[in-house]
Amino acid sequence: MNKIVFIFVASLLSFNVSAGSSGERIYNQVCFTCHNQGVFGAPKLGEISDWVDRISTGKSMLNHHAIEGYAGSRGFMPPRGGDPSLSDQEVRDAVQYMIDKSW
Ligand code: HEC
Repeated sequence: MNKIVFIFVASLLSFNVSAGSSGERIYNQVCFTCHNQGVFGAPKLGEISDWVDRISTGKSMLNHHAIEGYAGSRGFMPPRGGDPSLSDQEVRDAVQYMIDKSW
């Protein structure tokens, strides 16, 4: 009985961990290349001054730009970070992760 409870709790925990870090996982797979060090003019993860103006234009614009891609004054953000296999939701999760880490 205890063993069954343990397995149940363990599976709940691992489910929460993977669900909560989906944005982080995608960031590390796809967005990291440019956004971790701010290469090609990308706003850098954790650098508030790179994000203040962007966040103030609203998250829906950030999501839109991340999904569709856009050319800004600093460089070119490729659609879905260049990975067409990402869903809209996965891109939004990665944007949320970047905001949480930078703000
Ligand atoms: C090839 C490099 C590159 C990759 C990979 C990349 N980005 Fe970007 N991203 C940029 C650049 C450059 C900009 C800034 C463009 C500008 O404002 O001039 C940018 C800007 C952004 C912005 C700000 C949008 C705005 O409206 O100001 C968001 C959000 C963003 N990227 C999310 C992501 C996400 C999420 C991923 C991964 C799925 C990702 N990026 C992968 C280069 C990249």
